[in-house]
Amino acid sequence: MSGMLEFDERQARAVEAMYQNPDVTGQRSEVLRRLELRAGEAVLDIGSGPGLLLRDLALTVGASGRAVGLDMSAPMIDIAKRRCEGLGQVAFEQGQAEMLPFPDAAFDAAVSTQVYEYVPDMALALRELYRVMKPGGRILILDTDWDSLVLHTNDRARQERILKVWDEHLADAHLPATLSPKLRAAGFQITRREIIPLLNPEYHANCFAAGILDGIRGFVAGRSGITREEADAWAQSLRDLGARGEFFFSINRYVFQAVKPALK
Ligand SMILES: C[S@@+](CC[C@H](N)C(=O)[O-])C[C@H]1O[C@@H](n2cnc3c(N)ncnc32)[C@H](O)[C@@H]1O
Repeated sequence: MSGMLEFDERQARAVEAMYQNPDVTGQRSEVLRRLELRAGEAVLDIGSGPGLLLRDLALTVGASGRAVGLDMSAPMIDIAKRRCEGLGQVAFEQGQAEMLPFPDAAFDAAVSTQVYEYVPDMALALRELYRVMKPGGRILILDTDWDSLVLHTNDRARQERILKVWDEHLADAHLPATLSPKLRAAGFQITRREIIPLLNPEYHANCFAAGILDGIRGFVAGRSGITREEADAWAQSLRDLGARGEFFFSINRYVFQAVKPALK
């Protein structure tokens, strides 16, 4: 088995469920606040997934605005369409971040959370993003750097092997570390860089860690030399730590904000 994570129907539903936990809900509120959208603006969500953020964007720009969701996964678009039903300012396109189906200078703002880390050709994707932004348009990109993971374990060697295979679910598991020069090369002016930490110092069924650890278990099982038994045993060992009050998980989301320079 090889290749990145695929957002088929099962995976789309798993993301939809996991991204409604309190940790990711809090992250979404932070993203929305930082975008500083105004009523009537046109905003693009690249890799809009289950549409949780897109719905918030649409409500913020209001009926006089436009909120467009782009995603390459048909099952994700179906879920997002249902979530945004009745909102006339919302539109969807199925397509690729590397070939945006929009005219030049179409958007006041654009956001992409947990998506560019899946994109193999970032230079092309950022050139496309630059093209569709109006001069003065604001962008916000949020991605994880998996080097920021702190996850307590009693078997570090096993966990390191498992996490190395988990890196294969992305095109770049360390995109934030190189994103600044990539943004500048595309022509953007960086305005702000911050982290949003996700911290789960206790294990419970509805925390972000519970969802992502189950996702890791499912992805690595039977891949690159990790057996299903080994993956299950690793996940169980973390739940056991949780039951004993010895669990600890944290990871950083890196937020990059930038503008397309206004015309002089
Ligand atoms: C982890 S989900 C994040 C969804 C959403 N942005 C959120 O934060 O809730 C990643 C999404 O990016 C989409 N995606 C991945 N690579 C893409 C690409 N090259 N072009 C368009 N969409 C892509 C997937 O289909 C999936 O819906």
